[in-house]
Amino acid sequence: MVSINKSRGDRSLRSLVDPDNGLIARDTYVNEEIYHQELEQIFARAWLFVGHETQVPNPGDFINSRMGEEEVILVRDRKDSRLHVFLNSCRHKGMKVCRYDDGNTLVFTCPFHGWSYDTDGRLVGVPYYNDAYSKELDKSKWGLHEVAQIANYHGSIWATWDPKAPSFEDYVGSWAPSIQHCFQSTDGTDNGVELFSPVMKWRIPTNWKFPGFSFAGDAAHVAMTHRSVNAASIGPQGNREGGERFPMTAPFPSRVYSSADHELGHGGQNTIYEQTGNRPYRDTWYTVPGVDDYYRKTAEKKNKKYAGKHLPPGGHGGGHFCIFPNVILDHWRILLWHPHGVGSTESWRMFQVDMEAPKVVKDAQRRYVMRYCGPAGLTESDDMENWNYAFPASLGTMAQKLDYNFEMGLGHAHPDEEWPGVTLNYRISEEPARARFRRWLEFMEAGSWDEIYPVKKKKK
Ligand code: FES
Ligand SMILES: [Fe+2]
Repeated sequence: MVSINKSRGDRSLRSLVDPDNGLIARDTYVNEEIYHQELEQIFARAWLFVGHETQVPNPGDFINSRMGEEEVILVRDRKDSRLHVFLNSCRHKGMKVCRYDDGNTLVFTCPFHGWSYDTDGRLVGVPYYNDAYSKELDKSKWGLHEVAQIANYHGSIWATWDPKAPSFEDYVGSWAPSIQHCFQSTDGTDNGVELFSPVMKWRIPTNWKFPGFSFAGDAAHVAMTHRSVNAASIGPQGNREGGERFPMTAPFPSRVYSSADHELGHGGQNTIYEQTGNRPYRDTWYTVPGVDDYYRKTAEKKNKKYAGKHLPPGGHGGGHFCIFPNVILDHWRILLWHPHGVGSTESWRMFQVDMEAPKVVKDAQRRYVMRYCGPAGLTESDDMENWNYAFPASLGTMAQKLDYNFEMGLGHAHPDEEWPGVTLNYRISEEPARARFRRWLEFMEAGSWDEIYPVKKKKK
């Protein structure tokens, strides 16, 4: 356990993080030692999002992805089409074996001395093997380092370095149906989406938790931070009355909450639907002919699929949520906040689009997400301004003595029969952030998964 010896005095992690009272010491965001402990205790253990199966459809296809600070390769095996996730670091002297963002390959050949790895990770080629190594190197021991577990959940690919981590389904708990829903096409077909390529990647000068623990956990910032964007009407519809983002305005009985799973750490802004079926479609893409026609038809199809059934919380038009620690899911975007140093975050954006949509629809969707998200997107520019200034403003001698305030909605959460295990609060509250910190503390203190829920619970 890290002990902080600063102006705050010797303090344990537990005394720095107090979700019950909504008080979080700034050390948790700016302290190097705590940051390195996060990499070990959280990012080397948790299930992390690494990509989508449609990014690697063919044998030999690969993408470069990331888990915590480290690059990994997601590759489809040439022989049996299985997916693998390997650390992108040569076993010889650590060189990046793959320097491309994506592609297709027969083998990964290291640019340093030429060791070659098959798409199943085996070391298959070593220059000077006969003469310099006298054929004595045991190649079977020097394959690429592979994750301990991988999960393909309705097309989304997740991995963990920890063999003791519970199954992905146990890890996400009550959020599983909502994740499934995020990877359905707009007509309700499972695994019905693909991602736009390439992935948007850029670095921002802030701690990963500024975006990671406030995105989908800080609905209060919207009215202030995004005021100009709302005035400029950049929603998909170019709505002039407040910049609405989705065709959500058709009447449909539902309740909007901030949501939090205090045991698992997941949560965000979610809608619980009180009526079965799908929200009726409302025309919104006035400036691009054909797009509304397409989405109207897919909504009708989805209506039939969900006749008599409730949509899971979240998903299409229903909000976005965090899967602990650093992924935000929505029905149209995936946001990753990769730690890149205590004061640097590598921000990644991926965007789902219906696999079967015609080009005109995909193009319209692509233009919308570029306008809205990413380094040049109008809303994200607003957000970055805050996160990037809050980090240095928290670094100073005086600033570090103060706590962050996460009290909004404290004591006003309640359970709901419709969604067991999840705590709900007013649609604007810091309930999701408090749940993330509760989980953060559990990971940071635990010696292994044996002490972390849900494994801990099973052992009782
Ligand atoms: S570092 Fe890769 S072959 Fe030497
Ligand atoms: Fe925002």
